[in-house]
Amino acid sequence: MNFELTEEQLAVKEAAREFAQKQCKPGVIERDSKMEYPTEQIKMMSELGFMGMMVDPKYGGGGMDTMSYVLALEEISKVDNSCSVIMSVNNSLVCWGLEKHGNEEQKQKYLTKLCTGEYIGAFCLSEPEAGSDATSQRTTAIDQGDHYLLNGTKNWITNGGTSRIHLVVAQSDASKGHRGINVFIVDTQWDGVSIGAKEDKLGIRSSDTHTIMYNDVKVPKENRLGPEGFGFKFAMKVLSGGRIGIAAQALGIAGGAYELSVAYAKEREAFGKPIGQHQAIAFKLADMATDIEAAKMLVYRSAWLKDQHQDFTMASSMAKVFASEVAMKHTVEAVQVHGGYGFVKEYHVERLMRDAKITQIYEGTSEIQRIVISREIIKNNNLYVSVANEQVEHA
Ligand code: CAA
Repeated sequence: MNFELTEEQLAVKEAAREFAQKQCKPGVIERDSKMEYPTEQIKMMSELGFMGMMVDPKYGGGGMDTMSYVLALEEISKVDNSCSVIMSVNNSLVCWGLEKHGNEEQKQKYLTKLCTGEYIGAFCLSEPEAGSDATSQRTTAIDQGDHYLLNGTKNWITNGGTSRIHLVVAQSDASKGHRGINVFIVDTQWDGVSIGAKEDKLGIRSSDTHTIMYNDVKVPKENRLGPEGFGFKFAMKVLSGGRIGIAAQALGIAGGAYELSVAYAKEREAFGKPIGQHQAIAFKLADMATDIEAAKMLVYRSAWLKDQHQDFTMASSMAKVFASEVAMKHTVEAVQVHGGYGFVKEYHVERLMRDAKITQIYEGTSEIQRIVISREIIKNNNLYVSVANEQVEHA
């Protein structure tokens, strides 16, 4: 197996690291505390090409591979997870979904603006009574001849207050179950779209998360994405890709907490020597490093599979469930390594611990990832092995 990164991938990683350390880190504690949207940082990320990294350059994107995108997200997530979730939703759920399933007219009209940061996108699937059970959509989009009439409420929408474009999943024919669901490109400037209050969250506090209400919104026929009844499958496919982004975010959170812990363990002394030389702390660092390397293999492999145009549904769920659990476990340990200092905001690890929690919840909870993984195992009767391009029959 080749674990080497290309020169281009290394350059992207370095650019993202420099951006995160120099442009995100200075104000991140204050933005988190005040729930202040990272306006300047998102502008800079657009200029650096981070908002539509994988999109074909003919639509204004970066034309990069998923691996480069993962490396950029990982570096930014070591520092500022509000910036990284805004980036992840725009890239993985909105731009990728539009590029893969939109028609040429839709791509020219919307994708060109979304991948340059002129527009920010949001993915509107979750509802007050349809979170994990995503087929139970109550939002309706009824065919009125020349348009669809959209009514309903969406919850916990990342980029809810700042986005110009929403991809909205809605039920058009309840008698057909999930095959009656469609997905629409909705401009938030249209009549009938209203934005609820910003959520006051445990973590990723400066990203803007809102409830959205659609009240008799007229959606032109040409704004339906894909064929009639494709909406649920669209959401599932796009979320499989999105989970690679959230897995990369979790990997970055764990990596950020680890880097801070190693630096602190070398510098802080107790009982006459640096705490990293006491086995109690040294073993924590060893476990962090081992788990982060294991998570990295799963995350990078899921990106690699996507870049090879192979099925990555199971791989991205494995990467997300494992990396998010590593992030949660080791940010708690990072606070412990820092002792009393870890409990105050100035040392950054308490924020990473708070940010880690959402990676086990959004874009499919850990429980949903286990459903996806186990169904793939049963469906394919396979033992999935980490050898490139190979699946071994389970005897
Ligand atoms: N690709 C393509 N099609 C898929 C698919 C996939 N990955 N997964 C399922 N489907 C298809 C199935 O084949 C089936 O189609 P047919 O009936 O035609 O065969 C159809 O979709 C329904 O599938 P299921 O019967 O498996 O549906 P289910 O009701 O059992 O639910 C689930 C499956 C995996 C639990 C799904 O509901 C799910 O993923 N839930 C979690 C939703 C989620 O991740 N929400 C996150 C919100 S977005 C967010 O967080 C963004 C943000 O702001 C950060």
